[in-house]
Amino acid sequence: VLHSAARLPEAYATPLPLPPVRRPSGGLISIEQRSASVEILPGLRTEMMTYDGVFPGPTLETRRGQAVTVRHTNSLTLPTATHLHGGHTPAESDGWPTDLLVPPGFEAPAHHGAHHAGHGDGPGGHEAMADPKAQVRAGRRDYRYPLEQPATTLWYHDHRMDFTAPQVWRGLAGFHIVRDDEEDALSLPRGDRELPLMIADRAFDEDGALRYPARDPELLGEPGVADRYMAGVLGDVVLVNGAPWPEAEVEAAQYRLRLLNASNARRYALSLRTSDGKPVKLLQIGSDGGLLGEPVEHDRITMASGERFDVVVDFRSLAPGTTIEMRNGLGTGRTTRVMRFRITRRATDDVKIPEKLADVPEPESPHGAVVRRWHFRREGVHGRRGWGINGKPFDPAVPQAQVPLGSTEIWEFFTDAHHPVHVHLSPFQVLRRGNRGPGPMDLGWKDTVDIRPYEAVRVRVRFERYAGRFLIHCHNLEHEDMAMMAGFETV
Ligand code: C2O
Ligand code: CU
Repeated sequence: VLHSAARLPEAYATPLPLPPVRRPSGGLISIEQRSASVEILPGLRTEMMTYDGVFPGPTLETRRGQAVTVRHTNSLTLPTATHLHGGHTPAESDGWPTDLLVPPGFEAPAHHGAHHAGHGDGPGGHEAMADPKAQVRAGRRDYRYPLEQPATTLWYHDHRMDFTAPQVWRGLAGFHIVRDDEEDALSLPRGDRELPLMIADRAFDEDGALRYPARDPELLGEPGVADRYMAGVLGDVVLVNGAPWPEAEVEAAQYRLRLLNASNARRYALSLRTSDGKPVKLLQIGSDGGLLGEPVEHDRITMASGERFDVVVDFRSLAPGTTIEMRNGLGTGRTTRVMRFRITRRATDDVKIPEKLADVPEPESPHGAVVRRWHFRREGVHGRRGWGINGKPFDPAVPQAQVPLGSTEIWEFFTDAHHPVHVHLSPFQVLRRGNRGPGPMDLGWKDTVDIRPYEAVRVRVRFERYAGRFLIHCHNLEHEDMAMMAGFETV
């Protein structure tokens, strides 16, 4: 854990912020990537890389089947690649790690190139092995999202090769919510009673600057983190929507919480308890890729980096003045706390959560499907310690698999440590975890699955619509930057 040197605020002293909401106009949303100085810790300024000057970035709200173009302008000093996590997106717009958007006039410094020659003399060796297909744009880039997919919580974040972890840590992350008529027709909490909650840990220097143990703080040459952060970088401050341990004022009503773990490497086990010691259940209604078939009640929700859980919490019986703490069972000290809700007043609430939410097929193994195995393991990466998939560090020029469009495959993931495995393009259903069926956190359509050390998880995934190159990788962002990523090509 990285420890902050800055003076940290008391828990629950900061109100919960909500990111500004942006909807397309004429099918277009424009976003400027720029540096901004943001107040995260009271009285201090934090220099960040942002989408539109705010952290989290603006929440994009779109509708299923209504294609949107998100036009990003890069006014930063570093290259970026923007990925819509969970988006069913054509390859050209998926944020492939070498399809960079560079600031106008950007030239990679000379030493950069040297690293990329792949001499195997440093961790930079892997980072930009020639990728003849890389599509680099200067200044501005249009990402086109058809959004032919059910209503759910997506998020967008940076995906630049070798530098995803520090660039997300510095602020390049935001929500993207897809809505549709089917979901609108259901009785669910909405408006002020629907809260997107982006949970992410960070650490701060005395003056408020973000701490991050990058090997190259300029983020131009050597990728990766100091060796002792092999397991990933954890901070000691828990931010929700960019505020440290915030408090949300709520009415005595039901709320829909769209939980997102946007941390680089930290896992959480979230539970709720009132100030008079009563547990509050989390009623899960949705997962990464959309609504569940029916709601499922949990005492706690365990989430790894990249995962989303859509839950309803019921505060109706609580008296004004009651507070409800969201705690993290996997934290220590300060990081056992996440945020707090405080009941301000009684209210009417006619929402009755339906017993049936959506049509989700039973997760059954298809007969005769191709089975592909993916081993997520520690590997030497060009002479340094790193992480690989099937024995190889990420090479953007060489996909590890070719998958026919229209096929359903079984993918099996094996691990040697904790790895949240994320697949681009298509959501999947978990069939087995170890020698049992799916676990309690595996329900519905997933795009990221939290896999424990030496565990095997089997999923069913159908590849549809878009041909091209896509990624499978560990969503521990330090592992990703230490090369635990592979391309696959849909053909
Ligand atoms: Cu959220 Cu490939 O990433
Ligand atoms: Cu990993």
